[in-house]
Parts: sequence; C-alpha cells; structure tokens
Amino acid sequence: MTVLVTGGAGYIGAHVVRVLRERGDDVVIVDDLVTGFPERNPGVELVEMSLAQSSSVDALASLLSKHEVDAVIHFAARKQVGESVAKPAWYYSENVGGLAHVLLAMERAGVGRMIFSSSAAVYGDARGYVPESAPKVPTSPYGETKLVGEWLLTAAVAAQGLDAISLRYFNVAGAGWPELGDKMALNLVPMVFERLDANESPLIFGADYQTPDGTCVRDYVHVMDLAEAHAAALDALATEAAATVGRHRVFNVGTGQGTSVREMIDVILRVSGAPQAAEVVARRPGDPAMVTAEVTAIADQLGWRSSRTVVDIVESAWAAHQHH
Ligand SMILES: NC(=O)c1ccc[n+]([C@@H]2O[C@H](COP(=O)([O-])OP(=O)(O)OC[C@H]3O[C@@H](n4cnc5c(N)ncnc54)[C@H](O)[C@@H]3O)[C@@H](O)[C@H]2O)c1
Repeated sequence: MTVLVTGGAGYIGAHVVRVLRERGDDVVIVDDLVTGFPERNPGVELVEMSLAQSSSVDALASLLSKHEVDAVIHFAARKQVGESVAKPAWYYSENVGGLAHVLLAMERAGVGRMIFSSSAAVYGDARGYVPESAPKVPTSPYGETKLVGEWLLTAAVAAQGLDAISLRYFNVAGAGWPELGDKMALNLVPMVFERLDANESPLIFGADYQTPDGTCVRDYVHVMDLAEAHAAALDALATEAAATVGRHRVFNVGTGQGTSVREMIDVILRVSGAPQAAEVVARRPGDPAMVTAEVTAIADQLGWRSSRTVVDIVESAWAAHQHH
C-alpha cells in the first residue's frame, strides 16, 4: 500500500512512517518542517509544503496521483494549547484550513481513505472514564480545531464517498527509537526531564484531588502502541473498503488505565537515577482529577489494544532524551 503522511517529520508521524515502512508499505511525507525534523526518517521522500496555503491543493493532488496513493494519514497540525489561545485564527487556518486543503486534493486525485489525528482535547474537561460519546466541549482553540476537523471530515466523507477514521489520542509519550523522541516539552514526561536537566525538582500541581494518592490521574499511551493503532486503522480501511465507504468512525486511543502524576514522576526518578524529589505546589486551574480513555470500541472494531507499560514509556523516553 502507498501512504501519504502529512506531518510525517513530527514526533508521532515519524513513528508511524517507520512502522509502515518496516511492514513494507511505501510512504511519502509532506511537512513544512516548522516543528518537524527530516532526519527522523532519512531516505523517505519528503516534500516540504505548507498545507495551510491554498496553493498546496494543486501540489498535493499531483503528488497523490504521481505516487498512486491509497490512503492519507493526516498528522500535520499545530498542537500547543497556550499558543492556540494567543493565535486562534492562525490555529484554525493551519489545522482546519490544512485539513480542508488535503481533502480537496484527495477529491481531485480520487484518493478515498483517510486517518485523521484527533485528540482527547475535543472532550475539554471531561472526567473519569471517557467514552467516544462523551460531550465534546473543547476548552481551547486547539481542541476546537480538532472537533471542527472531525465535523469537516464527517461532511466530506458523505459528500466525497470517503472511508475515514479519526483517532482521539490521550497522553502520548515514549519513543520507539531513541532518535525519534519528542523534542517539545509540552507533556508531563518531557517536562519532568527538563526540570531534572536544570537540577530542579519535578513539580506536582496539587496533591489534594479525589484520587488514590491525591494527584491527577491520566492515561499515558506509548507512541509505538499509537503507531500500531494507525497501522490497524489503515488495515481496517483497506480490508473493509467496500462495506465502509461513506463511513467516518472515531476511536479513543489510550490504555484504559490511569496513572497518577506522582506514580509517573516516581518511575521517571527511578529510571533516570536523578537525586531530586518531587515537590508539591498549588493546583493549576482547569486540571480535572482523573481522565482515562474508554477503549473498548477500538478493541472491538479494529482489534487494537495497547501492550506497553508506563515503565516502557519512561525507559524509552529517557533513552531518547539521552540521545538528544
Ligand atoms: N503529541 C500528543 O500528545 C498529541 C495528542 C493528541 C493529538 N495529537 C495530534 O497528533 C498530530 C501529531 O502531533 P505530534 O506530537 O507528532 O506533533 P509535531 O509537532 O511533532 O508534528 C506535527 C508535524 O506536522 C507539521 N506541520 C504542522 N502544521 C503543518 C502545516 N500546516 N503544513 C505542513 N506541515 C505541518 C510539523 O512541521 C510537524 O512535523 C497533531 O495533529 C496533534 O495535534 C498529538
């Protein structure tokens, strides 16, 4: 199968590119390299292009036709919540505009299958075990662009006869290869590494939540498990094509298991051998006590479930951090 991966030079996209190549798929990457690194997958064709520009439609349609692409995986997006609050119009233009251009190019080139990177951010401050049917009330322009992206995809699926799957990722961490690690400190694991590098204590924002150890509980999924979820989604689209054209399915991708901030920091301190101890500070506004993915739908319908542990996540992320 030939797959075009937008954002394939990014953290998650690069893992998916490598997993697909290892199983024999042909891959073409499109990326503007703003937060991506071409050296993550040397030897894979990478076309530098900003998908937010309307001129990308023609260029992308030619690329899709030239390579006879079977499916598109659309990772390319800006993903910083705080930045999205400061620059909402830019986020809509990049994330929603970018998706619209990809869909126009697919229509022109007759490409019928898409996997879209959505996010648990569509649920806003949902709590507890979150099923796909939970209310969608994003609390940032970033989350809004993901929800609007899903709506756009639903409409395009009906109009263009596409076959699509959106995957709502929970907390992604870890690395499949040391050189593919997450270089942005936006999530707990890289943020703790950053504190340790500066000889500072990792911070726990609030230890008086209604959770077993008082700290917030989240669902951490290993980036390799996530990459394998994309491969399973691609296979589902390829094998069920005749029956599912015109269908847009949406799945959570997580482990279904909660890990507290304190548990995660303890694992990080053990794996890194750092001498610091965690320091409890005041709660941050807006942090729900517990958010864990309900993952039965993806297991039942795509046959995917996570297999890696939080220790696997931290060990691999630490190896990647050392590599950098
Ligand atoms: N990392 C997470 O925890 C997480 C969680 C939920 C959803 N997501 C989503 O997963 C996707 C990948 O995230 P990531 O963590 O790999 O981020 P990343 O920033 O490492 O990767 C995104 C890639 O897309 C490229 N890109 C962005 N906008 C583009 C545009 N307009 N045109 C062309 N290229 C563009 C960037 O240069 C980068 O290489 C994003 O859609 C993100 O919103 C990530």
